[in-house]
Amino acid sequence: MKVVIGADHGGFELKEYLKKVISGMDVELTDAGNLVYDTKDDYPDFAIAVAKIISEKKADKGIIICGSGVGACIAANKVKGVRAGLCHDTYSAHQGVEHDDMNVLCLGARVVGTEVAGELVKSYLLAKFSGEERHKRRLQKVLDLEG
Ligand code: RB5
Repeated sequence: MKVVIGADHGGFELKEYLKKVISGMDVELTDAGNLVYDTKDDYPDFAIAVAKIISEKKADKGIIICGSGVGACIAANKVKGVRAGLCHDTYSAHQGVEHDDMNVLCLGARVVGTEVAGELVKSYLLAKFSGEERHKRRLQKVLDLEG
């Protein structure tokens, strides 16, 4: 599975930690930046970079981290084909994929600790869309909005 990760300064440190967690999984990981810690950077630049890679189907799943996760989630969901969710509990992190085909996980580095974030990422990356008729039907209603 191909995964892309990105973060602004609010999420930079957690991104570096999560890269180590993900390196222990069967995943090909791309870092869409920021590649350096820069207090002046802006979350949309990295949220959109990750979202575009998902939209272009160059990766299967994305992870975006900012301070709260909110800005990253708002920005990513503007990009066609992206279904980003802000999840700080493991139930949502896997159920969002299983029922809603969530393809970007957003995290707030100022909200969750590193160990919890690692568990969230593992739950998310290991989850698969159920493919059940009711989930496909609901997803199609969302996809219809994109035209
Ligand atoms: C950056 O300080 C912070 O505003 C940003 O990372 C994020 O929390 C926005 O949602």
